[in-house]
Amino acid sequence: MTRVFPEGFTWGTATASYQVEGAVAEGGRTPSIWDTFTHTPGRVLDGSNGDVACDQYHRWRSDVDLIKQLGVSAYRFSVAWPRIVPKLGGPVNQAGLDYYSRLMDALLGAGIAPVLTLYHWDLPQYLQDAGGWTNRDTAQRFADYAEKVARALGDRVSMWTTLNEPWCSAHLGYADGEHAPGLHDHPAALAAAHHLNLAHGLGVQAIRAQLPSAKVSVTLNLHVIRPATDVPADVAAAERVRRVGNDIWLLPMLEGRYDPQLFADTAKLSDWSFVEDGDLAQIAQPLAALGINYYSTSYARARSVPAPAGPPWQGPWPGCESVEFLPPKPPLTAMGWNQEPAGMTDILVEMATRYPGLELIVTENGAAFDDVVSPDGAVHDPLRINYLANHIEAVGRAIDAGAPVSGYFLWSLMDNFEWAWGFTRRFGVFRTDYDTQERTWKDSSRWYRQLANTNRMP
Ligand code: FCB
Repeated sequence: MTRVFPEGFTWGTATASYQVEGAVAEGGRTPSIWDTFTHTPGRVLDGSNGDVACDQYHRWRSDVDLIKQLGVSAYRFSVAWPRIVPKLGGPVNQAGLDYYSRLMDALLGAGIAPVLTLYHWDLPQYLQDAGGWTNRDTAQRFADYAEKVARALGDRVSMWTTLNEPWCSAHLGYADGEHAPGLHDHPAALAAAHHLNLAHGLGVQAIRAQLPSAKVSVTLNLHVIRPATDVPADVAAAERVRRVGNDIWLLPMLEGRYDPQLFADTAKLSDWSFVEDGDLAQIAQPLAALGINYYSTSYARARSVPAPAGPPWQGPWPGCESVEFLPPKPPLTAMGWNQEPAGMTDILVEMATRYPGLELIVTENGAAFDDVVSPDGAVHDPLRINYLANHIEAVGRAIDAGAPVSGYFLWSLMDNFEWAWGFTRRFGVFRTDYDTQERTWKDSSRWYRQLANTNRMP
């Protein structure tokens, strides 16, 4: 049976400012933590950076045209904070606002809904110099920035996302070190997590103060962590990872609380005294939708041998040194991630069960593969089409099971700067030639166009 999606289902595609814009020193933009990080030797696999990336800052007009040709009805992009507030304390930079204003006007002119993310990781460097997300003041700065964007651009935004994947900001940035600012400090990661939560809550309020009926959401990369066996120690290991990976965001944002067990799991790292009276009420703002980014699953078990003594255990899971992960099972994507479409269904159904009535949107899903350019210039990427078809079918199954999923945003519109992997990993449905900035259709973009045009799985 051909999978048919509900009428009005949103088909979209996504990018993020630092990954596509380039023009890092133009239009009054000042450095973000990703500029600093990528210009530090050894941080990025191929030594590259986002100085030029896909040059979308100059090519927005033809990129909007491409999105239109793709046939999708929404574009998820992010605003670079240091373009809007280039200096500590302001003022607002009109040239930065103008860029996004032109972009959104072009999108709307092409019948494409602008879905705006305020924070996809490019924190102004001047805030990092003051402690970044470990500094409570950063949350207030985020709210000020959100207010400025809402005031200037809010009339044209169809949906807002406060933060993209705060897990990456806190745990990859401060604990694991794979992302900017590249620290290995588990206590700091927990403080960062709380201040990101606070930023979200204050940000939602700042947007609504300008635009009372704004559709505001957050995007979380909810981890589908399965226990390696059903032995109680392995089940407990998976739960422990879920607490610091998922519930650390979900509970404060959607229920106004933290799990006391999370405090117990991390007691050796932090007393959580950065959580002040009243914070949870600020964080738990009603949301119009929850964005979920899903790529793969992981399998956790209790460590058979204790973590090695010596320097504190490093990794993106503060408080989880008693847990280890199984190697992912093939077939893997070029990221080394497993492919388990059922995880998509599971996480959507779990959220629908835990938060009945909350609209769910898949704000990212997609895959990197080692694309080959044929002699005629075409890119035949059957593996990507296969990944997308299986995962989109999994979204359909979640809808069948009653999950209120209203849209799907493919990551990514085009190959772009993949963070610590530089340009070595290609997620796009359009190929980016980084020498000429030419974008070419891969087979997957034609496949997705058919899906977006017909609402039926090709
Ligand atoms: C997500 C990020 C996005 C992109 C994809 C592959 O974690 O939000 O920017 O890098 O992974």
